Amino acid sequence: MGSSRSRQALAFMFLYCLACPLSQSLVNGLRKVRGVNLGGWLVVERWIKPSLFDEIPNGDMLDGTQVQFKSVTLQKYVSAANGGGMNVTVDRDIPSWWETFKIWRVSENMFQFRCFGGQFLTSQSEGNVILATADIPTVSETYIVERNNTKVHIKLLSGNYLQATEDYQLKTDYDGEPGWDDNEATFEMVIYANNLHGDFQLANGYGQDKAREILMNHRHTFVTAEDFSFLSEHGINTVRIPVGWWIVQDPDPPAPFIGGTLAALDRAFSWAEVYNIRCIIDLHAAPGSQNGMEHSASRDGSVNWPSTEYITQSLDVIEFLSSRYADNPALLGIELLNEPSAAAVPIDILVSYYKSGYQIVRNYSSTAYVVVCQRIGNADPMEIYEAKIGDTNVVLDLHYYNLFDAYFVDLNPLQNMQFIYNNRVPQLQALNNANGPLVFIGEWVNEWNVTNASRREYQIFGSTQLEVYDTASFGWSYWTLKSEEKHWDFEWSIKNKYLVLNNSWKNGLSSCTTLAVTVWAIILAFYGSLLL
Ligand SMILES: *[C@@H]1O[C@H](CO)[C@@H](O)[C@H](O)[C@H]1NC(C)=O
Ligand SMILES: *[C@@H]1O[C@H](CO)[C@@H](O)[C@H](O)[C@H]1NC(C)=O
Ligand SMILES: *[C@@H]1O[C@H](CO)[C@@H](O)[C@H](O)[C@H]1NC(C)=O
Ligand SMILES: *[C@@H]1O[C@H](CO)[C@@H](O)[C@H](O)[C@H]1NC(C)=O
Ligand SMILES: *[C@@H]1O[C@H](CO)[C@@H](O)[C@H](O)[C@H]1NC(C)=O
Repeated sequence: MGSSRSRQALAFMFLYCLACPLSQSLVNGLRKVRGVNLGGWLVVERWIKPSLFDEIPNGDMLDGTQVQFKSVTLQKYVSAANGGGMNVTVDRDIPSWWETFKIWRVSENMFQFRCFGGQFLTSQSEGNVILATADIPTVSETYIVERNNTKVHIKLLSGNYLQATEDYQLKTDYDGEPGWDDNEATFEMVIYANNLHGDFQLANGYGQDKAREILMNHRHTFVTAEDFSFLSEHGINTVRIPVGWWIVQDPDPPAPFIGGTLAALDRAFSWAEVYNIRCIIDLHAAPGSQNGMEHSASRDGSVNWPSTEYITQSLDVIEFLSSRYADNPALLGIELLNEPSAAAVPIDILVSYYKSGYQIVRNYSSTAYVVVCQRIGNADPMEIYEAKIGDTNVVLDLHYYNLFDAYFVDLNPLQNMQFIYNNRVPQLQALNNANGPLVFIGEWVNEWNVTNASRREYQIFGSTQLEVYDTASFGWSYWTLKSEEKHWDFEWSIKNKYLVLNNSWKNGLSSCTTLAVTVWAIILAFYGSLLL
């Protein structure tokens, strides 16, 4: 009985070790990625470092800000019927999409207004009326906005003020200079949405000279050699580095983007070599924007990436990065595109891009990992997993947040952890066991929709996530190195013990080893006396 049990135990251990990918390593000396993202560094996101935007004049009227205008005399909203394509009226009581305009900023006081359907408000018309018919904004689509608190006057570059006429039209023939009393040229401006604060908004908001000063300083101070030292001391072996497509034209990218990200990326690679950390370069902001969010450097929230022009341009970026870093010993992989939108990027276009990108990377390196990200929104990562992107060293990147979905609102700590076990674990196991790419949890964070959770609760949530994400065949990386939001800040979380890393990582042991040791300890505890 005793010896049969101990034989069972040994057999189990043997099988376990066979199943354990211990003998595999991703590259020499690296069993699994335990990484941190360098978010908000070479691709700006205001929430990560709000002070970057502090000094922009008229800073609530940046590119992509959505505004509505209500005539103070008519008490009606300006409206582009059907979202554009015809005349503009001032006749709506309740504002909705037709009454909401996206700003394209020309300067501190000059703006263009984009309708829901994509066209711009133009003064080029018969009879001094404003139309919503311009496809491309030029001078006749540019307006000077004078502000007095929430009230505005809107004027053409020629000096004429717009007015809401009694027959509900928006016309360019107000007579003279309006005051701030209730007159036809005065409108209440409602800022309906103001949620884009990326590289485009920053650079176009400040203008080239000031933006260069702000960004140069940021790129030199936000991430430094000391951070790499800190990461290395805490067992982190990889950084995932978001970059914007304009890196390809460094040091003189097209306006409004500001050069210098390439030099910063070079610095990261040199620190990586010193501290024995590997780099994944991640095309986070693709030309035209692949998801309409600020971290894709979208100008106004539109997603234009799925066009031949932008895809070709993106492949040029991949070619450039591959040729420059393929032989660098610190390069671990290149991620072809971050978080394409499921709603706006068709899967066949994405897969075709991923296949071309794979070929380009392979042309420069036989070993660099090619990382492909799942679509965000309503999409099953299996669609990428099964797409046969390439033959070797392909990695599927999944982003696991217990946030950004109504499902997570009001979950308590225990329910949050149950979600990790009930939903994330089966998905990871299914992907790990399928015959396809390696699996990477390229973004996750020790934050949730729980108000005032205790440090102990954060620790348990963090450990639960680490334990599970550590089973991903490629590994994981935390979002993000530093942030004004402290739970998103890896360094803060470690220093303040809200996130506790397992020490065995420092010795390069994989979770599998840790788990095997634990299993062995349990077996010995139960059967040890029988074995002896
Ligand atoms: C403007 O459009 C409205 C419909 O939204 C129409 O009734 C009106 O006749 C148009 N006015 C002019 C001047 O074209
Ligand atoms: C703003 O409007 C108020 C009246 O609503 C007026 O008294 C004030 O002078 C205006 N401010 C400027 C700077 O024009
Ligand atoms: C790979 O490189 C060769 C020679 O440099 C080039 O002719 C070929 O087009 C490249 N293939 C891809 C997919 O970039
Ligand atoms: C939870 O989600 C709600 C709704 O999205 C949001 O208003 C709230 O700020 C979130 N709370 C936390 C602690 O994240
Ligand atoms: C969270 O903590 C803050 C500060 O201690 C307190 O003001 C607030 O009421 C708390 N919120 C909840 C939902 O307990």
